[in-house]
Amino acid sequence: MKIRPRRLRQSPTIREMVRETTLSPIDFIYPLFVKHGQIEREPIPSMPDQYQFSIDGVVQEAKEAWSLGIPSVILFGIPDTKDAVGTRSYAEDGIVQMAIRAIKDNLPEMVVVTDVCLCEYTEHGHCGILNNNEVDNDATLEVLSRQAVSHARAGADIVAPSDMMDGRVGAIRSELDSKHFTDTGILSYAVKYASAFYGPFREAADCTPQFGDRAGYQMDPANALEAIKEAILDMEEGADMIMVKPALPYLDIIRRVREECLLPLAAYNVSGEYAMVKAAHEKGWIDGSRVMMEMLTSIKRAGADLIVTYFAKEAAHVLGQAK
Ligand code: PBG
Repeated sequence: MKIRPRRLRQSPTIREMVRETTLSPIDFIYPLFVKHGQIEREPIPSMPDQYQFSIDGVVQEAKEAWSLGIPSVILFGIPDTKDAVGTRSYAEDGIVQMAIRAIKDNLPEMVVVTDVCLCEYTEHGHCGILNNNEVDNDATLEVLSRQAVSHARAGADIVAPSDMMDGRVGAIRSELDSKHFTDTGILSYAVKYASAFYGPFREAADCTPQFGDRAGYQMDPANALEAIKEAILDMEEGADMIMVKPALPYLDIIRRVREECLLPLAAYNVSGEYAMVKAAHEKGWIDGSRVMMEMLTSIKRAGADLIVTYFAKEAAHVLGQAK
């Protein structure tokens, strides 16, 4: 026998030398939930080790992430009040706007990304403005654009629309440009499926739809060609980076979008993916830390350049321990 692949698996050193995919904290974008009030961190029951932070708490957490080599956070806001049209989403004294300013004051080099969507800010929990109980695409674009501009004004480096309205990347780009925020980037959740894996997030961000579901605007999990169409449209509308979400059940989509699209590609390792690992680990059924690293590696190997993940700090710790 001449061909023995095991030769290259004989020692940790040789395995490391021929390793095709490597992870680094620089790959991670760390999601943070921020809300009003003085309580620095309130645990999120379905997401162990994740919290809703106050402004002070979120700055502390961002500092800790930065010290671990994580370059970026993505912010989600829980507003003080909700209404039918998401008014608090674009308020200058809104929770996300305040968090951006506080993080940028303390960590000017950290890349601050913000989620642009109305579901946390509407009392009905849908991602846009309703008209006869349907989300009205074009009316929603105006509010999303105002939200994006308010984030840019507060100092966000990148805005990340996650609402799945048609034409929102183009609308946000032109509104940013007309207000002279030409340097603010757009990371588009271009390929976002209508997924049950968002369950824990909806508890964390208090954004469960009060009736119906999001299938009228988020994508059908059965579709792959449509993913490429969405990615190309957003690229043409001026997105700087695009995202596939969720990650693990859609690794094939990450690969296909990677091959079709020239932009940096992010994947969102969502709340349900996180919660499953934590729950099985707590039951003693899996080694959560090893499963985490295997999952993150698979997302990178599939073709993602960046991974939005609640595991960011934990994985950075593991990577820091590796020799
Ligand atoms: C807001 C938004 C959601 C997530 C990110 N942005 C929820 C949804 O679309 O229902 C989910 C993230 C996660 O599950 O970790 N539209």
